[in-house]
Amino acid sequence: MEEKNTIISLVNVSKTFDDGVTVVDDFNLDVKEGEFITILGPSGCGKTTTLRMIAGFELPTGGEILLNGQDISLLPPYKRPVNTVFQHYALFPHLDVYDNVAFGLRLKKVPVTVTNRKGEKVIKYKKLDAKTIDAKVSRALQIVDLDEMEDRDVSTLSGGQQQRVAIARAIVNEPKVLLLDEPLSALDHKMRKDMQLELKDMHKKLGITFFYVTHDQEEALTMSDRIIVMKNGVIQQIGTPEDIYNEPINAFVADFIGESNIYNGTMVGKMKVRFIGAVWDAIDDFPLNEKVDIVVRPEDVILGAPGKGNVDGKITSKIFKGVHYEFIVHVGKNEVLCRDTKDHEVGSEVSISVEKENIQIMHKELTENQYTDAWIDNSNRVVIGEDPFACDVTKLVPGSHLDEQGYVIDEKNHKKYDFKDAEVVATIALDKVVISDDLEVGESNGTIINIVWIGDHYQYIIRTDDDEDFVVDSQYSWNENDLVSIHVEPGDIALRLKKDLDEYEVE
Ligand SMILES: Nc1ncnc2c1ncn2[C@@H]1O[C@H](COP(=O)(O)OP(=O)(O)OP(=O)(O)O)[C@@H](O)[C@H]1O
Ligand SMILES: [Mg+2]
Repeated sequence: MEEKNTIISLVNVSKTFDDGVTVVDDFNLDVKEGEFITILGPSGCGKTTTLRMIAGFELPTGGEILLNGQDISLLPPYKRPVNTVFQHYALFPHLDVYDNVAFGLRLKKVPVTVTNRKGEKVIKYKKLDAKTIDAKVSRALQIVDLDEMEDRDVSTLSGGQQQRVAIARAIVNEPKVLLLDEPLSALDHKMRKDMQLELKDMHKKLGITFFYVTHDQEEALTMSDRIIVMKNGVIQQIGTPEDIYNEPINAFVADFIGESNIYNGTMVGKMKVRFIGAVWDAIDDFPLNEKVDIVVRPEDVILGAPGKGNVDGKITSKIFKGVHYEFIVHVGKNEVLCRDTKDHEVGSEVSISVEKENIQIMHKELTENQYTDAWIDNSNRVVIGEDPFACDVTKLVPGSHLDEQGYVIDEKNHKKYDFKDAEVVATIALDKVVISDDLEVGESNGTIINIVWIGDHYQYIIRTDDDEDFVVDSQYSWNENDLVSIHVEPGDIALRLKKDLDEYEVE
């Protein structure tokens, strides 16, 4: 295959808004001619801002944007050979389909070389003639499959048809690059699916570069040649859909792309890792005792008769998905999402195994302690491992307070919540865990299993009796194998519900 040219490069591109917040941070990317490239990331991660910088609606505060090797950072939008399709397409409601698409072309002036009276060649700007406009509009409408609807009022079109008019309007200028910012998000599920295939088809017909933005992982996986996964303005991973699905670089990417089981794990031997209370063979090796993230895709979990696998569990939920069933198996307090074409009854005991090459082990970013299988007990405490910690459950509902009975009251919206047994993700900053020799003062006790000196402080890993690890930054020195207690102030435990807030509403 011939090597395609790079059409757009972003080199160390950053954007810091006036409020001092950097929303795009050192973004580097080469886009090839004709590529379908997608930025994927959660809301607010900087996708639109990146696209707006490419379009020229926003200036980078650092780095440069190159088009065919030329810096276009300072070129105004209308001089860039790019066109944008926005999430909220603004069509002219009083014009029909044809006139909506022709609108820009009628205003456009193109350079033509003419010979003046003196016989010199000069460049003049002329409007396009009606015939040229007609040919261009017809072709654009053909590509979006609306050629039969030229005369329809746009207000009589369905959402999908309106979006296709918006696309026709963008491609009629024959841009080299089409920027699409969540163009399908206003459509219902079925129409989205259809339009995804149609967009893919248009991409092929046009042969130009599509730069797509979405927060929908499935959409990114089905359409793109390459995906850029972004978080908080920073690129996490760039790769083909297969790369990103099969070899996610960290737990964030794994969680964002496809469904996965993600666990806290610990290396307990050579290519042996412990998670969900069992030891598993792996193919990646990490230092002994290192805390790692484990990712197992649901389709890679093998269910069997009790005692025949690596660990036993109990099926607690079953959903029929057409081709397969989706089960949740509880192994202790851990949930394992799995798929099987064979039926199993809810409540039955099963064993779980996973081929070792399907256990992905990743370095943990030790930036915070995160407990993904925490829950709230009947005294509004958060249980981490088996130890309850006082916490502030009103943080789960902004502007709420607790009543005498322990319900969380949201006065503004007249709602009342009961968080007993709610599954939560609890997060504690590394410097908010307080270690003490006095075993009576903390919520949990554990043994120091690892110490590293990081420049100006120690970082400890403390393992509790129930196998939870706390990573702690501290100025004070302890020794390995010291038995210590751990205390966290209630306000220092951040909580996030795993299910929707509505689920906990009470009358
Ligand atoms: N003009 C601005 N001034 C200050 N902050 C801004 C401005 N525009 C965007 N932001 C902030 O930059 C961050 C990234 O915004 P952006 O619109 O790029 O996110 P996004 O990834 O497109 O999100 P979404 O999926 O919700 O569309 C947000 O926190 C947003 O509030
Ligand atoms: Mg956006």
